[in-house]
Amino acid sequence: MNATQGAILSVRDLEKTFGSVVAARDISVDVPVGQTVGVIGANGAGKTTFVNMITGHLTPSKGVILFEDKDITGKASREITRLGISRSFQVAQIFPSLTVFENMCIAAAIAHCGPSFLDNVTTPVRSPRATAEAEAAIELFQIGNYRNAVASQLPQGVRKLLDIGMAVAGAPRLLLLDEPTSGISIEEKFGLMEVVMSALKKRNITVLFVEHDMEIVSRFADRVLAFYDGTVIADGTPHEALDNPRVQELISGIRLKPAGAAHA
Ligand SMILES: Nc1ncnc2c1ncn2[C@@H]1O[C@H](COP(=O)(O)OP(=O)(O)OP(=O)(O)O)[C@@H](O)[C@H]1O
Ligand SMILES: [Mg+2]
Repeated sequence: MNATQGAILSVRDLEKTFGSVVAARDISVDVPVGQTVGVIGANGAGKTTFVNMITGHLTPSKGVILFEDKDITGKASREITRLGISRSFQVAQIFPSLTVFENMCIAAAIAHCGPSFLDNVTTPVRSPRATAEAEAAIELFQIGNYRNAVASQLPQGVRKLLDIGMAVAGAPRLLLLDEPTSGISIEEKFGLMEVVMSALKKRNITVLFVEHDMEIVSRFADRVLAFYDGTVIADGTPHEALDNPRVQELISGIRLKPAGAAHA
């Protein structure tokens, strides 16, 4: 299979089964370079399964995944990370007893260590390169005020920024964010996403983000993939996808107004 021209990611006929559970099926998507894609769907719809197959945390049962024209289907997550795909998880993956700066240094060092971190003594965590990258990431994600704070003591929003900043340490071209605003108050969500999305734009990173808040999705996504029962039931601009009657009924919970009724 060839990737569609200009697509950084091409997925064809992707399927994942766990015994009798079909967690993903018939997923075919092309993502152009630079696009910000919002992934929506109810609990259990298959969003994380989709992300996990792209990042190598799950092996697809069927289908093909191309990243920058390379077939990455079923490759190990470490190898996929080295090729240029990074991610964050639903729960922040940070070292709680270390400071923001130390966490960033470790992420930068790991990003450049090659196949084996432990074997590679030439990539110390305090190398000039890792240190410079850590400082740049702290500035980019606007968490300089917390540079020397211990991660376990951080406000939730700062912890998220640190987590995503660490995911960006290896200069990925594609980043997958699994519910970046989960656990964040409604008042703080928009500010957090403004910082994250402007940082990723500055680095020209293509983004897929899983999100339950439709206002966040319509504000920050160029395109929306709506998942239901393991498959994509709508794919278009936020307006197109969120106006889709099936999406309204099955995902966003807002039913269509009767034909002819004015939109609020
Ligand atoms: N390791 C697994 N073993 C068995 N079933 C699984 C496994 N991982 C996911 N599933 C099932 O696959 C389906 C999709 O799960 P997934 O975690 O991808 O949903 P999701 O859209 O990310 O949901 P949420 O919004 O709750 O995070 C669910 O029915 C889930 O129970
Ligand atoms: Mg999930």
